[in-house]
Amino acid sequence: MFRLVKTLVIVAACLLICSNASDPNYRLNTTIKPSKYAISIMPFFDTGDERAFTFNGDVTITFTSDEPINQIKLHSQDLTFSSDNITISNAAGTVPLNETKALEFDSAYTFAHINLQGALQAGVEYTLRILYEGPIREDLTGFYRNNYIEKGVKKWLGATQMEPTHARKVFPCFDEPELKAVFTLTIMRPASYKPSLTNTKIAATTDLSNGYVREDFHPTPRMSTYLVAFLVSELEAQYYSSNNSMEFGVFARPEATNQTEYAFDFGKRVVDALGDYFGVNYYSTNNQLKLDHIALPNFRAGAMENWGLVKYREALLLYVPEESGPYYKYRVAQIVAHETTHMWFGNLVTCHWWSNTWLNEGFANYFQDYITALIEPEVGSGNILVTGSVYAALDADESPSSPPITNDNVSSPAEISEHFGTITYQKAGSVIRMMHHLIGDEAFRIGLNSYLTANQFQAGYPELMYSALEKGVNTTNSLALYPGHTIGDIMSSWISQAGHPVLDVQVNYEAGSVTLTQRRFYINGSHTSDETYKIPITYTTGDNPNFVNTKPAFIMEGKTHTFNIHNFTQNWIIFNLQETGIYRVKYDSQSLQMIIKALKGGELEKIHYLNRAKIINDLFAFYFADEVSFSTLNDALLYLQSETDFNVWYAAIRGLNKLRSRYLGTDTVADIIDAHTLHLLHNTIAYLGFEERESDDFETTRNRMQVLELACKLDHTECVEHFVAKFRNFVDNGVEIPPSLRPVSYCTGLRYGTGADYDFMWHRMSTTNVANEARLIGEVLGCTTDEASLKKFLVSMLEENSPIMSQDLTVPLSGVVGNHSHVHIVLDGLKNNFTLWSSIYPSMDTVFNAVAGALRTEAEINEFESWLNSCTECGDKDGALATLASGRANAMWVESHKTELLNAFKGHAVALPSSLALIVLCLVVLRLN
Ligand SMILES: *[C@@H]1O[C@H](CO)[C@@H](O)[C@H](O)[C@H]1NC(C)=O
Ligand SMILES: *[C@@H]1O[C@H](CO)[C@@H](O)[C@H](O)[C@H]1NC(C)=O
Ligand SMILES: *[C@@H]1O[C@H](CO)[C@@H](O)[C@H](O)[C@H]1NC(C)=O
Ligand SMILES: *[C@@H]1O[C@H](CO)[C@@H](O)[C@H](O)[C@H]1NC(C)=O
Ligand SMILES: *[C@@H]1O[C@H](CO)[C@@H](O)[C@H](O)[C@H]1NC(C)=O
Ligand SMILES: *[C@@H]1O[C@H](CO)[C@@H](O)[C@H](O)[C@H]1NC(C)=O
Ligand SMILES: [Zn+2]
Repeated sequence: MFRLVKTLVIVAACLLICSNASDPNYRLNTTIKPSKYAISIMPFFDTGDERAFTFNGDVTITFTSDEPINQIKLHSQDLTFSSDNITISNAAGTVPLNETKALEFDSAYTFAHINLQGALQAGVEYTLRILYEGPIREDLTGFYRNNYIEKGVKKWLGATQMEPTHARKVFPCFDEPELKAVFTLTIMRPASYKPSLTNTKIAATTDLSNGYVREDFHPTPRMSTYLVAFLVSELEAQYYSSNNSMEFGVFARPEATNQTEYAFDFGKRVVDALGDYFGVNYYSTNNQLKLDHIALPNFRAGAMENWGLVKYREALLLYVPEESGPYYKYRVAQIVAHETTHMWFGNLVTCHWWSNTWLNEGFANYFQDYITALIEPEVGSGNILVTGSVYAALDADESPSSPPITNDNVSSPAEISEHFGTITYQKAGSVIRMMHHLIGDEAFRIGLNSYLTANQFQAGYPELMYSALEKGVNTTNSLALYPGHTIGDIMSSWISQAGHPVLDVQVNYEAGSVTLTQRRFYINGSHTSDETYKIPITYTTGDNPNFVNTKPAFIMEGKTHTFNIHNFTQNWIIFNLQETGIYRVKYDSQSLQMIIKALKGGELEKIHYLNRAKIINDLFAFYFADEVSFSTLNDALLYLQSETDFNVWYAAIRGLNKLRSRYLGTDTVADIIDAHTLHLLHNTIAYLGFEERESDDFETTRNRMQVLELACKLDHTECVEHFVAKFRNFVDNGVEIPPSLRPVSYCTGLRYGTGADYDFMWHRMSTTNVANEARLIGEVLGCTTDEASLKKFLVSMLEENSPIMSQDLTVPLSGVVGNHSHVHIVLDGLKNNFTLWSSIYPSMDTVFNAVAGALRTEAEINEFESWLNSCTECGDKDGALATLASGRANAMWVESHKTELLNAFKGHAVALPSSLALIVLCLVVLRLN
């Protein structure tokens, strides 16, 4: 599954989970081993009668039990059947059910218990058949409905999303990943629809002459319940290849099939490249498999790797160069690579339980960028392994409650969903990358091939991964430099332990020696604990810079380690090359000064851009953790005036935005931060210019996007004038804006525009056939400063055929609260239209959280808190109250750090634009009084 980064902070789930020990009653804990399922589904869409949006199901499960049992416990949720609809039999005949109480549903744990009159024998094969009915759902889980408008007509389709615990909403089953079986599907579809799609190829088609056509499919490979998928729709494939029956296609709405060429081209190349890399061809695992990628109008996650039938949000699969920014090209490649990796990591070998979801998602997260860098170098994904994954992982992993990658506290559906998070994806992906650099490519490939072939069609465990990698290590002797260490020991110190270390570096320049100390890093600098990690140490020095060799010099396992550097002069030394290790590095002040001197003194190019980015990214973290002063951070930031690299600016803009966001609401300080940021951006803006250039590569284009988006947001005069003019020319004269400049043009134009401009963009969003464009507009509509439009936007999902899709309900809300000066509009809306709002959002807690997370000042926080406390109809508000508490902590942090920040600027006042220097001076004067 591809998880989209949540824009709204949801603390509630953590409150729910982190405080309680996991409840084992959610587990099946069964002696039953299912081997086969035959599933038949007949859906009813807008039939206009009581059957509308329901389906008939018929499942037959073949199983044995390891022990005699008189009860069958299996999963079933929101499905309707009675004991009359159940038949259990074996070769000898039918097995009678308990006469008094044959069937019990346990809705809290989503089980059905089938009680028998006698006992089933151990080791004997039985079949369990259940006839049932179920809903075609609206909540984007299980078997759910989608719709789109084609030539004015509303079209319905049925799609599925089973991962992680929704298969039980479509057919009664043993819904745990380790209980694999072979699935044979039959789908009845309206005759006017296109042939249905499932995991495998069609075996037979029968016209039922009741308006339905029946399609029988080939049996799947042995796989987990969460990978079962089907699609009943009118979607089509413009690009379909059936080279030697290795079928491959991309399906979309008929009016969008001409946007599928890139996904088709890249998708075919990536399934071949991954097959080569892993040494297991995709089509070799089962000869009835094909591989289809489907673009769906309504989809909750980013995408889902159903074996042979991968489903996506339209905006993440369809790409039109003339209409979609280059960033979307990267996103399409990344997500297709992610899902395709799952065909091996997840589908062929599956995590035994969701506690180790990383065995699926960590590998998908790593290969989404690693393989893309190999076959599509122009989209720059090699660096996104660091700026995308490592940065996100470090941030998610810096609090005392961050869970380990292997998380034994995962049992309930809520806990399982929560563990599909940054730790499981980006952190595990980053640990895998660290191991790849440690053992080298040959050992890594041998290891992965061994894991996949030894465990195919079975469940994967961390120990099986470690021993497979060890086989690669043994074959290539690639840990010879580190006697006494095994790959399993090293890797498990990162997989089983929560957190990550910071490496304190103390250089003794006299003696030419370095002392390293490790400790777990916490963003709250006063928190300590004593984990140690087995850290692969890489470093280089200014005497002989080499950032390319990422083979570690040694593994550090103790708390401290001192070593000598031969012939070291008074020069810089940098650790964690290209951030191949998932740890922060904190230098003593002298060695940090050496690095900053090199950065400012024209030696910038000698230091790898990913390490320059890391210096900035780590210093921001140390500042927020109260480990370095603002003046130390700012001393380093000042070098950015001669920096042009995308990755470094990515790190800097991330940090500057976070800083800005903390100080929002404290007018003068926020203004000073903004002016200072513009000062740092000045040379880069001049270097990048305001227009696309022929010579731009992907990173330059993205750099221009990120730099100008920030500059215009901070009211950089030229930036604003340029993009307001561009926007006017677009709205008034129909001159389209190049895709990469649309986000900044649209947002700036709306910000300085009117309600009519908002209406214009809304109309464009409603009528465009390109999902990327609709998504982009949805993200920027909140930029408008027209209050009436903002109010309209907040409830716009209620409009007839609103372009705000059900999976994007919170997009307007986050767009509006994204501008701190509009938070009051949301607050008013919430208070005045509570009933209306609660009819829009399935969970008001999400809304409360979004609002709470946007509040900055004590006054705002108090106002919202007292309203929440007095609200009797508000339901669950624990999450919001917790978010408010962290907002208060932020306000206190700001209060205690203000003076230091202002003093730091005092020292650099000359470097600031004169108006700003004046503000600083005034403030200083005020403080003296
Ligand atoms: C699993 O079931 C067995 C037999 O009913 C029981 O003894 C055991 O405690 C259960 N284990 C868990 C973890 O619930
Ligand atoms: C049938 O169910 C009833 C009620 O739960 C129970 O008392 C009885 O022992 C069961 N009969 C058999 C044969 O298992
Ligand atoms: C289940 O059994 C009841 C009672 O015999 C019957 O009315 C109903 O149609 C059955 N349901 C299905 C889905 O076959
Ligand atoms: C793609 O198809 C749509 C709908 O049929 C059409 O409006 C559009 O112009 C086509 N785009 C291209 C680039 O051919
Ligand atoms: C790797 O080599 C070590 C030392 O010879 C041996 O103990 C271990 O069993 C080997 N592991 C594998 C997976 O072959
Ligand atoms: C250190 O310098 C000496 C003298 O220049 C040289 O012989 C030696 O090889 C150097 N050692 C290393 C590890 O570079
Ligand atoms: Zn995934």
